[in-house]
Amino acid sequence: MATKTILALTPGHPGQLEKLEKDFTILRLWKEREAEAAIAEQANNIVAITTYLAPVREVLMDALPNLEIIAVGAVGYDHIDLEAAAKRRITVTNTPDVLTDDTADLGVTLMLTLLRRVVEGDAFIRAGLWTQKGFPLGRSPREKTLGIVGMGAIGQAFAKRAEAFGMHVIYHGPNIKDVPYVYYDDLAEMAVKSDVLALTCPGGAATRHLIDYNILGHLGANGYLVNIARGSVVKQDDLLVALSNRIIAGAALDVYENEPNVPDAFFVMDNVVLSPHIGSATLETRRVMGELVVANILACLNGEKVPSALKI
Ligand code: DGY
Repeated sequence: MATKTILALTPGHPGQLEKLEKDFTILRLWKEREAEAAIAEQANNIVAITTYLAPVREVLMDALPNLEIIAVGAVGYDHIDLEAAAKRRITVTNTPDVLTDDTADLGVTLMLTLLRRVVEGDAFIRAGLWTQKGFPLGRSPREKTLGIVGMGAIGQAFAKRAEAFGMHVIYHGPNIKDVPYVYYDDLAEMAVKSDVLALTCPGGAATRHLIDYNILGHLGANGYLVNIARGSVVKQDDLLVALSNRIIAGAALDVYENEPNVPDAFFVMDNVVLSPHIGSATLETRRVMGELVVANILACLNGEKVPSALKI
């Protein structure tokens, strides 16, 4: 009898595929010379897909008649066609909660790196400039207002950390949450009040290009943008113009519109800090994310309660 196959679209987190390999054949798609042919050959055996940020579209689901689960190794799932999955009664899972702290840590790290000009300082020393002139002053987070877009688990963890740095937190999102921060229904109004605007909301149609030139204008010349959400939340071309025109003071970005491609224009800006989508990228957290992916797949295929199934 043919063994059940798991189609892995991306390499997976530490230990993840090795654990699954005990019970399943793993089709590592990125290693295949002819990806479509490899899928076609295994189509009837494939019962699960694992992916990190590679999209899963309807056409792939159509090609896999026995697919039971799409196990996403990330908290965000805007790259999965949920409607198509629901139509086919395919379970979709993600990895919430386990990455909240590391992702919030990165948000705060980026914010402080930007405000305190750490990357600029590093370049300054490496260029041999310290012996020739003084380094410009940074900005303190204390008594500044942090406007958070998306007060979910990561937003709340970011807020808690920011409070420890003496910041005042306000927030915007589709719903008022049970949190001790002032809510703004109007994003533009919140941007005016914010010294730092931090994005922690989900990606997808509802938040696409939420941050455009107009909102950046409201954030203003002394305002900073931090994005640890999804690249799609920001209209990247507008951000580039806003940064080069000093419409805002600076930006720290972990996510981009067309990853892993980042516009060259960012590279020459001294008021920008860039990281390569590493919100959850610690060994400890990625291991736990991998374990959750495995637990979701095994539960689903064994007909048990799936730990983090999305309600779709
Ligand atoms: C997520 O889990 O959605 C993160 O963006 C991945 O690091």
